[in-house]
Amino acid sequence: SAKMRIAAALASAAARDGVLLQGWVRTVRRAKEVTFIALNDGSCLDGIQVVIEPSLANFAELGRLGTGACIEARGDLVPSPASGQQWELRAREVRVLGEADGDYPLQKKRHTLEYLRSIAHLRPRSNTFGAVFRLRSALSFAVHRFFQERGFLCVHTPIITANDCEGAGEMFRVTTLDPRRPPLEKGDVLWKDDFFGEKTGLTVSGQLEGELFAMAFSDIYTFGPTFRAENSHTSRHASEFWMIEPEMAFADLAADCRLAEDFLRFLVRYALEHCGADLAFFNERVEPGLIAKLETLAEATFETLSYGEAVAALKRSGHPFEFPLEWGLDLQSEHERYLTETIIGGPVFVTDYPEGIKAFYMRLNDDGRTVAAMDLLVPRVGEIIGGSQREERMPVLLERMKGKGVSEASLGWYLDTRRWGSCPHAGFGLGFERFLMYVTGMENIRDVIPFPRTPGNARF
Ligand code: 4AD
Ligand code: MG
Repeated sequence: SAKMRIAAALASAAARDGVLLQGWVRTVRRAKEVTFIALNDGSCLDGIQVVIEPSLANFAELGRLGTGACIEARGDLVPSPASGQQWELRAREVRVLGEADGDYPLQKKRHTLEYLRSIAHLRPRSNTFGAVFRLRSALSFAVHRFFQERGFLCVHTPIITANDCEGAGEMFRVTTLDPRRPPLEKGDVLWKDDFFGEKTGLTVSGQLEGELFAMAFSDIYTFGPTFRAENSHTSRHASEFWMIEPEMAFADLAADCRLAEDFLRFLVRYALEHCGADLAFFNERVEPGLIAKLETLAEATFETLSYGEAVAALKRSGHPFEFPLEWGLDLQSEHERYLTETIIGGPVFVTDYPEGIKAFYMRLNDDGRTVAAMDLLVPRVGEIIGGSQREERMPVLLERMKGKGVSEASLGWYLDTRRWGSCPHAGFGLGFERFLMYVTGMENIRDVIPFPRTPGNARF
């Protein structure tokens, strides 16, 4: 018999004899004459129903199988008389590969997301997390597809680095374990200092290295893990998250915004085309109206407001914010939400932020007090993209570095691009988890990454 994934078997749209399916038991239902096993191998949301008749030698044993057991079933794919499923597997032989007893933590009832987070090693076997991680996988592929189709070079930027790109002091430090003290105990006596004598940390962004590659390959992108030592306990911050960072030579802020818009529309369209069943699940269980929202987004042009206009609109609204806003202050999440959810009613680019609240590498505007920055804010999640046109003029760049206390000596390699063959360029970073929150409707960043790393959460 032909070994198949359940999704492929269901998609084959024809009755066929001799199919071998393998997976994990979701439920066992004993009727008078037959036993039904709901089986899933992760390839699709619903899995398949396996029909077990008393003629099978181990009929009684199979009726006692617990949720979570692993089996393989040989049989025939036949039209299902039950509603809601087109095909079922009439089993001829079922082997139990791994049993599961009543202690299996993922029983049939609906569990809370908090509980499922506490069993992050088993939650991918649930419907919700099956859908989340299938979507995450499909969209990872779509990210590469978008950029590769447009001729962007994929560059793997380093994870261990000496530069703090954002200058926010949020780096985790890298040290080495002392090999002469093998037993791992409490305290940090086991750690030797530094990266073989150099002070390094985990990267907060691949941008600076990405810029160097854009100065050679014109259009590049990175897609990798980044780390932020923010001790924030919010639903949208993680210590480890994945970021996509395109960088384009010969591009300004407007081109940067157009790329971001095309990119998001492409990803949303890809999800609608390839992940329909999973999105329907989110639409029904997680965020009512999700699919309609995504269909709109797939065709949308986003609104653009300058930071000055955004601040003015927020002040004009008269809304009683917890942190009152003044020109020069950063937008807090309450401002981002009010702007996107109430004032705009959708995603919005906010551009040209005050120089004082943005990183050293952003290009100074002619007014001398704002920079060519853009953030894309979306309802519910807030900022999902941060980007800018880069400062390509050496004297201006040096001045801004001085103003922000960024050491020139440590960034000599970066400054070389301004010394030799500098050109206008721009890029942005999309937080992959923030984007997944927007596309799935999931409300906590811990629920869109397989093993979340947040303060107090490094176990699995
Ligand atoms: O705005 P950020 O800090 O920008 C940069 O890192 C630039 N170097 C990007 C660039 O221009 N190449 O981060 C970019 C995005 C944010 O908009 C947000 O979506 C996400 O990364 N992000 C986080 N996601 C999860 N947890 C955190 N702690 C995050 N910090 C930023
Ligand atoms: Mg930002």
